Amino acid sequence: MNVLVIGNGGREHAIVAALAKSPKVGKIYCMKGNAGIAELAECVDVDYMDNAAVCDWVDAHKDVEYTVVAPDDPLAAGLVDALEARGHRAFGPSKAAAQIEASKSFAKGLMKKYGIPTAAYEVFTDYDKALAYVRGGKFPVVLKADGLALGKGVLICETLAEAEAGLKQIMLDKAFGTAGNTLVVEEFLTGKEFTPGEEVSVLCFTDGKTIVPMLPSCDHKRAQDGDKGLNTGGMGTFTPCPFYTKEIADEVREKILLPTVAAMNAEGRPFKGVLYCGLMRTPEGMKVVEYNARFGDPETQVVLPMLKTDLLTIFEAITDGRLADIDIEWESGACVCVVLASGGYPQHYEKGKAITVGDLGDAFLYHAGTKRENGVLKTNDGRVLNVCAKGKTVAEARKKAYAAAANIDFEGKQFRSDIGIKYNSGV
Ligand code: AMP
Ligand code: GLY
Repeated sequence: MNVLVIGNGGREHAIVAALAKSPKVGKIYCMKGNAGIAELAECVDVDYMDNAAVCDWVDAHKDVEYTVVAPDDPLAAGLVDALEARGHRAFGPSKAAAQIEASKSFAKGLMKKYGIPTAAYEVFTDYDKALAYVRGGKFPVVLKADGLALGKGVLICETLAEAEAGLKQIMLDKAFGTAGNTLVVEEFLTGKEFTPGEEVSVLCFTDGKTIVPMLPSCDHKRAQDGDKGLNTGGMGTFTPCPFYTKEIADEVREKILLPTVAAMNAEGRPFKGVLYCGLMRTPEGMKVVEYNARFGDPETQVVLPMLKTDLLTIFEAITDGRLADIDIEWESGACVCVVLASGGYPQHYEKGKAITVGDLGDAFLYHAGTKRENGVLKTNDGRVLNVCAKGKTVAEARKKAYAAAANIDFEGKQFRSDIGIKYNSGV
């Protein structure tokens, strides 16, 4: 079967690589792809935010039998609905179901209505009312732009002055565009003894009836070591997460995963695809920090390499509503991903820097933002490369990933040196 994958980052490279291993998959196309994806797929230069243009391209390519929509924005824009309306098979939630990510106020309302544990919150569309509420509240406080904002629309404000500045930035200056027309003000969740709560990303396959969690992974969202600096799209990940025990996984299944699938059905928005639950461990139990309607980036880069089952088989089972009929198997051991970013990311950075790749040992690379110009590999975005490695333990995997990362160079290369270190005493 020939397959089209929508997207152009490290997540899509990992999806393309997993599909390329499938004996069922013939040719892979990727819209738009990058220099790494181009080694496995034919890259197609069509704007995937234009539903009609994508549908026209799929209509014209009769050999393409299945389309995988990976990023949040085309899902929120209804690309899966548009493809299905033209009779094409596609993987990903409908526009109505993707609202669980595209609108934080929708997601919070859903959790409140169906008793799914999450931080207390209020929603505002009026700046003065939001300001009055924040002035009367506790700190830190969390401000969230309602809509999609490249993972950057969340501000954790320690003081009233910071919160006032944040409110202005989101609601008046529209730093995140129309995503900030509606604002969610959230209680700050903490772990035991008021340390920041431990977080885990639980990506799940679901066909709207059955839900199967993938291996748990931990992202590092802040730009700098020690969780300092600005929030980013994600600077590195590892799996497994030692704190995520069988007891916690069972609690999450009963109190969060099953109720979320049921809630989406009850709302008439059955969710089929990958449901990503960003969770925090708090003294009252596990709580939802955010939902995403898709594979995480860079979580996918450590989770899919551990998948033993054929990915296309899982995708098709979801599309056909028979996920309960298949067994999904994982490798044991660990995987670590270190993101190499452009200097200055997530703020201002330059593109077009030449990249040299030396000996990687048994680490492997997914390209996040690269292009090839006259045969030369160059940086093309904030996040550039994902250096991944497997090992028996997180410590072993991180050692291999960092050894490989040291052999990759480009001007301004920026990365965190503490990915996966939290749980293995400084190895
Ligand atoms: P989000 O984009 O919603 O995942 O938020 C980005 C990051 O901000 C999360 O991974 C958390 O580390 C942090 N965060 C978001 N909401 C809260 C909250 N209510 N309490 C504490 N930290 C939060
Ligand atoms: N790694 C966070 C995300 O994909 O939203």
